[in-house]
Amino acid sequence: MSIRLVPYYCLLGFALAVASCKTQSPTTTTADTKVKQSQGVYQYRDEDPTIKPFFSDRVGVTGRNGMVASAHPEASQVGLAILKAGGNAVDAAVAVQFALAVVYPGAGNIGGGGFMVYRDNAGKAYSLDYREKAPGRATQNMYLDSLGNVRPGLSISGHLASGVPGSVDGMVEAHKRFGKLTWAQVLQPAIDLASKGFPLTERDALGLSRIKTDLNTINPGKVYFLKSAVPTDTVSWHKGDLLIQTDLAKTLQRIQAQGRAGFYEGETARLLAEEMVRGKGLITEEDLKNYHSIWRDPILAAYKNYNVITMPPTSSGGIALVQMMRFTEPYPLRKWGWNRDSTVQVMIEAERRVYADRAKFLGDPDFVKVPATQLMSPEYLRTRWTDFSWAKATDSRAVRGGTIPGYESLETTHFSVVDKEGNAVSITTTLNGGYGSRVVIGGAGFFMNNEMDDFSIKPGSPNMYGLIGNQANAIAPHKRMLSSMTPTILEKDGKLFMVVGTPGGSTIMTSVYQTILNVIEHGMTMQQSVNALKFHHQWLPDKTIFENGAFSSTTIETLKSRGYILEQLSNTLGRMDCVLVRPDGSYEGASDPRADNTARGY
Ligand code: DON
Repeated sequence: MSIRLVPYYCLLGFALAVASCKTQSPTTTTADTKVKQSQGVYQYRDEDPTIKPFFSDRVGVTGRNGMVASAHPEASQVGLAILKAGGNAVDAAVAVQFALAVVYPGAGNIGGGGFMVYRDNAGKAYSLDYREKAPGRATQNMYLDSLGNVRPGLSISGHLASGVPGSVDGMVEAHKRFGKLTWAQVLQPAIDLASKGFPLTERDALGLSRIKTDLNTINPGKVYFLKSAVPTDTVSWHKGDLLIQTDLAKTLQRIQAQGRAGFYEGETARLLAEEMVRGKGLITEEDLKNYHSIWRDPILAAYKNYNVITMPPTSSGGIALVQMMRFTEPYPLRKWGWNRDSTVQVMIEAERRVYADRAKFLGDPDFVKVPATQLMSPEYLRTRWTDFSWAKATDSRAVRGGTIPGYESLETTHFSVVDKEGNAVSITTTLNGGYGSRVVIGGAGFFMNNEMDDFSIKPGSPNMYGLIGNQANAIAPHKRMLSSMTPTILEKDGKLFMVVGTPGGSTIMTSVYQTILNVIEHGMTMQQSVNALKFHHQWLPDKTIFENGAFSSTTIETLKSRGYILEQLSNTLGRMDCVLVRPDGSYEGASDPRADNTARGY
C-alpha cells in the first residue's frame, strides 16, 4: 500500500484556518506588478536593479525522445547513448550510476548508496531504497569516548565511517525488474571509461588535487587517484589529464560478469573486507552478503492539480517536501512574488518546523515506527502552525517536534532520466561527504562512503550538515541511517510533469521544494528554476542562509526587522538535475550551472 493522501486542496480545514487569519501579509507589495509572464517564461522585475536572481542565463536542453541530466558530461553522454540504443529510462539510469562511479568519484559511486523513484509511462510509481546499512558489529555509542563525548572525525573519515554499500544491489534490482537491454550492455560504458580513461574537467582536477593529503594519509602506500605512480605524489591534476582506473575497471567487469555476486561475494567482497581489517573498519564479508536493497511504497501526495511522487523513509526527504509544500499551499505565493518577504517568511517557517519533526520522528522504518501519514496530514500540520506570526520570527528554541497521539517517542549526486515512452527515473546517490571516507579499497579501486555520519551518533549532537537527531536515528547493527535525499517526480493532471532532485546534505529538501515551487507557483521554466538563487533554514542553527542575490534589499530589511537572522553564503546551494515535460510533450532538460552538470537529449 502506498502512502496515498487525498487531494490537499479538498481538505479545507487547514487551508481555511490559515486563510482566515494569516494569509494577509502585513507588508508584501503585491507582486503582480513585478512579475511578467510571457509564454511560461518568468521575467523577474524588481525596483532594485542590482538584484539578479539567477545564477546564470543557461537555457534548458530540448528533446522529444529522451533526456538525461546528470552531474557530469561523460555520464549524461552515456545515458543518452543507452537511450538511443533502445534502452529505457531504467537502463540509462543504471548506466549513468555506474558511469558516475568512474567519472565523478566525489559522489558517484559503487561504494555508497542511494534512492530511486520510478514512474512508468502507465503512471505506476515505485521507489527503491539502496541506502547503506550499519555493519553488524556497529554499536550505538561507537563514536563516543568513555565519558560519552563524540570522538571527532571518526564517523566522517577513515574505515570506521563506512556503512555497507547498497549501490550495486540497487542497480541489479532496478535492472532486473525494469531493464530492457542486457546487464552487460549497461555496464560496458563505465568499464570503457575506467579502462581507457577520460579527460578530467577543471572541476574534476581541482577536486582530486584537493584531497591529495587525505589520499596519502588514509591510504598509505596506494596510488589511487594520484597523478603519478609514486604513492606520496603531490603533483596536481590539470584539466584534460586522462584518469585511467584499471582496478575499478576490473571490479566493474566482475559486476558485469557475476551481477550482485561480483560485488557482494568473491574477489570484490574479499578485497573490501581485507581493507576493513587493515584500517580497523567493521564491514565483513557476511555484512556484504546480507545486504539487500528494498522496494518501498513511494509517497504519493496531491498538491493542487499536481501529484508528488517521492521517497519515503529511510529518507526524510519525501515527508519533509510534502510537509513544506502543504504548509505553504494556502498562501498566494505567486501573487506575492518569487522571494518577496512574505513568500520567504512562510517558507522559512515551514522549513523550521519540518526539520524539528525530522529530528524527532524520522529514522529507518525497519527499526522505528515512523508516523509518515500523520506527519503529512492537514490536522497535524495545523497544530504546527498555531504559533506562526507575521510580526516575528518563531524562535527555534521554542519549536520542538510536534506531538502525534499514539506515537511512542523513540527516537550526493542527483540525476534524472526520461525515455521516449515517458518512463521516468529520479535517482539521488552518494558517498555522503565528497569522496566519502576517502578510503579506497585496495585492489578494487573505489571510494567507500562515510554515511555512518548520517546517523545521530549522540542525541542532540549535530552531524556534518548540522543536523540533529535522536533515538529514531540512533546507530544499530544492520540499520539504515536517515537521509535527506529527495528524488522526486511530479505529475500534472495525471501526466508526467517533472523529474527533480539535487545533492546538498541537509539543504537537499529545501532546494527541491524551491525548485518545484519556482515552476508551479512562479511560472519559471525548468532551467530558470534551477538557475534561480536559493535559500535554506533547517530549524537549528536558527538562521537562514542564502545565495548572494537570492533576496532583494527590501526582502532582507523586512525579514531582519521581524527577527530573522540572515547569512549570505560565499558558496552555492544545490546542484539540480531536472527534466520538465512541456505542454507540447517535449522535454526540457535542466542542469545546474553551478558545476559540471549537463543535460543531453534528443
Ligand atoms: O543522505 C544524506 O542526506 C546525505 N548523506 C547526503 C549528502 C550530500 O548530499 C552531500 N552533498 N552535498
